[in-house]
Amino acid sequence: MNIWVTKTPAQINEASDHTLLKKNLRAVDLAALGIGSVVGTGIFVATGQGSQLAGPGILLSFIIAAVTCAFCALTYSELACMFPVAGSTYSYSYVAFGEVVAWIIGWDLMLEYLVAASAVASGWSTTFIPLLTQMGLKLPKALITPPLTTSAAGKVVFSGGVVDLPAILITMGISWILYIGIRESAKINNIIVGIKIAVILLFVFLGVSHVDFANFNPFAPFGWKGIMAGAAIIFFAYIGFDAVSTAAEETRNPKRDVPLGLMVCLGVIIILYVSVAFVLTGMVPFKEIDVGNALPAALARIGIRWGGALVATGAVIGMISTLLVTLYGQVRIFMVMARDGLLPASFARVHRVHKTPHICTWITGTVTALIAGLFPLTMIIDLCNIGTLFAFVLVSIGVVVLRKTRPEVERKFKTPGVPFTPMITVGFCFYLMYSLPKVTWFRFGAWLLAGLLIYFLYSVKHSKLQHGLQK
Ligand code: ALA
Repeated sequence: MNIWVTKTPAQINEASDHTLLKKNLRAVDLAALGIGSVVGTGIFVATGQGSQLAGPGILLSFIIAAVTCAFCALTYSELACMFPVAGSTYSYSYVAFGEVVAWIIGWDLMLEYLVAASAVASGWSTTFIPLLTQMGLKLPKALITPPLTTSAAGKVVFSGGVVDLPAILITMGISWILYIGIRESAKINNIIVGIKIAVILLFVFLGVSHVDFANFNPFAPFGWKGIMAGAAIIFFAYIGFDAVSTAAEETRNPKRDVPLGLMVCLGVIIILYVSVAFVLTGMVPFKEIDVGNALPAALARIGIRWGGALVATGAVIGMISTLLVTLYGQVRIFMVMARDGLLPASFARVHRVHKTPHICTWITGTVTALIAGLFPLTMIIDLCNIGTLFAFVLVSIGVVVLRKTRPEVERKFKTPGVPFTPMITVGFCFYLMYSLPKVTWFRFGAWLLAGLLIYFLYSVKHSKLQHGLQK
């Protein structure tokens, strides 16, 4: 057995159906796709949490996280155009590094997709519950609070709650939509993107005249360390822009449209995020920010309750689309891994009527719902961020490795400045990973070890490539 066995570019490209896809997306469609999957819990909920770590310096945190993402996007695009297949980083790693690394990345991507979906569901719940309360419907605390929470010292302790029921229900609802096979169409995506941008602009518009510059003093109450800790958590708000790169094969002119689409997407997002952070920390002394429901609560605080309700409603709608895209992404990755034999074949089985991978969808949905219902949001976000950053580190190294080992494969988009751009990307990613709490590193290490155990106990024995069954 050779755990380092690699697939050839032809092998992974063959497995995809990309030749059947229509090539009709333009840069502006890509940007809308990106904004649709990126803008969600991060800006509406994690901003409140990040502000507790960085103070008003969260403004800088947003910029640092954005620069990191811009670099990641540059390296990611090269591989996405080389291998326009499902499975994202998992598929690229199979060619660049070999099977065991591909498996570890596939396992790691569960943090970027499945765990991120739990975070979105959990953030959705913290925004939705106050809306319900405003409408006069008060749910018992035990049913809206996960049993575990993080103490001020970062320890996981019991909260007294039983479960976050709304988070579970929304996840199961979205799983059902994926099960019956409704995919968000570009039209619906555009409408939802419009709603998200509109409510963010509404927040900025209503709040900006209430900005009190005294609230920016001190700007960085916890110093540079606080700003970086804020950036490490707020990175979550940018996750999902890789959706732009994965649609590379469906674009008219990837060389031009992919980088342009990414730049427009990141450009719009960074302007929106920095404006929100500026208005929020300018309106409310950072210690008084409502961590679970920052934006609507800030508007309600200055007496604009209708504005708060409108922003919350838009956020709740917007987060549903993020949840849908993220869960869908996870199901697809599991499917690809199952096709390779690294996961049980039932993960790739397709429903006779609905033509969707039903078993995989329900397993993914149930695990996501349980994490969302039982664990605290900050813990979920930290794990998701470390996993995503690690995947981007490997993507960046992969760009350099593949330039050497596979120079012959056509690159429709080439990362500029190789090897320096990938090296800078790795540096940024590690700095953000380093800024996450130590306990997150331990959890991440344990997660990867568990993954390796499964690989050696199951996957390597069933791998199609190992047994010469891969076409
Ligand atoms: N970036 C996505 C969000 O903020 C994951 O919800």
